[in-house]
Amino acid sequence: MSDGSKRQISRRQFLTFGLAVAGGVVALGPRADEAGDPEEVKDRSDVARWAFLSDTHVAKDPGHRFRGFYPHRNLRAVVAQIGSDLPDGLVITGDISRSRGGTEAYGNVKSLLAPITGKRPIYMGVGNHDNRDDFLRAFGNSGDGGEAVEDKHVVTALAGPVRMIVLDTLLYVNTFPGSLGREQRSWLETYLHMCDDTPTILFLHHAPRADLLDTRRLFEIIAPCRKVKAVVCGHSHKYEFCESDGIQLINLPAVGYNFTGAQPVGWVEARLTGQGGEFVLHAVGGNPKRDGRTTRVRWRA
Ligand SMILES: [Fe+2]
Repeated sequence: MSDGSKRQISRRQFLTFGLAVAGGVVALGPRADEAGDPEEVKDRSDVARWAFLSDTHVAKDPGHRFRGFYPHRNLRAVVAQIGSDLPDGLVITGDISRSRGGTEAYGNVKSLLAPITGKRPIYMGVGNHDNRDDFLRAFGNSGDGGEAVEDKHVVTALAGPVRMIVLDTLLYVNTFPGSLGREQRSWLETYLHMCDDTPTILFLHHAPRADLLDTRRLFEIIAPCRKVKAVVCGHSHKYEFCESDGIQLINLPAVGYNFTGAQPVGWVEARLTGQGGEFVLHAVGGNPKRDGRTTRVRWRA
């Protein structure tokens, strides 16, 4: 982990910058955030620091190799980095297993996450390369919301200044498309209506407007709901930021392997406030060009 990433951001510095970008997305090089206000965050509830991971793709065989990557080794390296300066918690947005789930694959993930388990919450969603039953047998339900939607794995949690909702877009195991489905969308709409205005981040495996079949119906719910500030996803094995209806769309890189040499392999450190987020890439493989780079986004009002 870089020195820059270990430093806590001053809330004043963050807010000043946030106003300057006025809702845009700005990426800075590793050195760009080194200068700044030395003031420390006084109130920890103002900032939450989380590790965001996706697409670990761990197989039954720890020596499994794909595209020159060893997902088992990658997750071990990521856990070591995270463990050296524990954040408030972890979210992993699906494709936990290599291709179809399986007790042994999830057992490997459990062992790899053991240095963090019990010390910090770990909220996991399922992707198209997971088996929900195997997953739930291995990990159970974490956070609240486990029984919210029948045959779906949903997590809700408060994390300092933000609310997190992990949704389930697994449609068919080992087939690309995914969807939330009518029942989960209906639950989400009701839940968002019932809860307070805490800035809310949705986590799901499938990237909206890519392989998420009910993207339009999802946005009919969340676009007018101003408390929804961001959607964090995986699936594309591509690290990128964009925006739709003022909602920040944050696509996490994969931990296991990339699909093209242009993409990094690694995880993202997220510093979240009620006004926006700072996201620092920690690459453990693939294209290292953006390793350590901070991307700042401001939530819509
Ligand atoms: Fe994946």
